Amino acid sequence: MDKLLITGGRPLQGAVRISGAKNAALPVMAATLLAPGVHRLRNVPRLRDTQTFARVLELLGAKVVFEDHLLTIDTQSVNSVEAPYELVKTMRASIYVLGPLLARFGRAKVSLPGGCAWGPRPVNLHLAGLQAMGAALDIEHGYIVASNVKLKGATVGFDVVSVGATVQLMMAAVLAQGQTVLENVALEPDVTALGEVLVACGARIEGLGTRRLTIQGVSALRPIDATIIPDRIEAATFAAAAAMTRGKIRLEGVVPGHFEAALRKLEESGCAVQRGADSVGVSGPARPRAVNVVTQPFPGFPTDMQAQMIAVCALAGGTSVIEDTIYFDRFTHVPELARMGARIELKGNVAVVKGVDRLYGAQVMATDLRASASLVIAALAAEGETLIDRIYHLDRGYEALEKKLGALGAQIQRVN
Ligand code: EPZ
Repeated sequence: MDKLLITGGRPLQGAVRISGAKNAALPVMAATLLAPGVHRLRNVPRLRDTQTFARVLELLGAKVVFEDHLLTIDTQSVNSVEAPYELVKTMRASIYVLGPLLARFGRAKVSLPGGCAWGPRPVNLHLAGLQAMGAALDIEHGYIVASNVKLKGATVGFDVVSVGATVQLMMAAVLAQGQTVLENVALEPDVTALGEVLVACGARIEGLGTRRLTIQGVSALRPIDATIIPDRIEAATFAAAAAMTRGKIRLEGVVPGHFEAALRKLEESGCAVQRGADSVGVSGPARPRAVNVVTQPFPGFPTDMQAQMIAVCALAGGTSVIEDTIYFDRFTHVPELARMGARIELKGNVAVVKGVDRLYGAQVMATDLRASASLVIAALAAEGETLIDRIYHLDRGYEALEKKLGALGAQIQRVN
């Protein structure tokens, strides 16, 4: 199994081009099921998760070609409505095929996703929303099963802001009979980008960028021809790495507004940040200052940066308080950072981080995607060598990470 060997202590220097966003690519890949045709998606990151989703589409009968960062998906040959447990268990976002299959074929058999490294991640909002649109859904042997479904417009209000449930219902509603109103929707750039892609294919969606969407169902959509937006979490992760290593880097091919909350927190911790039209310069301080963080849905501070921010605060002068209001138990990185000398006390969904002068290299284990990113950036700042195990978690969401960090001067290599 691959591991990452990192020798810390080198400030990151130079420019890095940010890849397309995993969390924007996956819903657009699912949306290709809505229209029989040949779809073209550019700037798709080459990740385990995009390859897994391509696999799901192939199992449904689509023809998928992944050349460099161009994904060509022919959904004319789709002839199955079953998304198997074997794939769904490796990537929860596979559930995104449910809405499009019901909208196009009126039937589906999709495995329930189950939990993840940090606990239960229910899909009740997805199912309740589809049921409100007239889908009779049964749970049989761990599968969501439905047939003879004719989706109808409905008004659905989400108790909790959910990225997944929002995109699921958007995709179901664009081909449904009549009007759907979605209230308290997610505003993440991935959601708005999906909406813009669907509108470009002939969908009728009003209110994008607001918490209320009005969707008028249409009879058919044109194939997708779109470019995936840049990955704001990858960009913010590199910015945090600069903050921890006294680095001076330039993030290229980004939309600064997509990760403004993270940039503001890094500025609060002492970073100098220059925002350009499609680039951001970040210079790390001699030593980060302690900051308090509360994660929230976009445009708030993203939970997907919580672990990386804990790593930054582990080296800060002073005590930081970091609360995750989205996932109450997303702290599997804490004991691993403690192995590197971090002083973090967990109280429910709050981490109290007492900054230390230095971190030390150690053998640590990645437990999920963003937890592993926090270990990588901690290792870049630590004294000595760190060996990170189970980096397949990283490969799910960071494209060519060690190559990009190496180009910024990091001492990093993949070892088997
Ligand atoms: C998306 O997950 C992202 N994944 C996650 O990023 C991200 O952490 C999360 O949004 C929050 O920003 C993708 O985009 C593929 P949610 P999702 O539905 O859609 C509760 C990464 O690291 N909820 O917005 O699964 C849920 O438990 C990944 O790239 C319900 O209660 O998240 C959570 O507390 C990890 N019932 C909250 O809503 C539901 O039916 C937000 O979850 C759905 C969600």
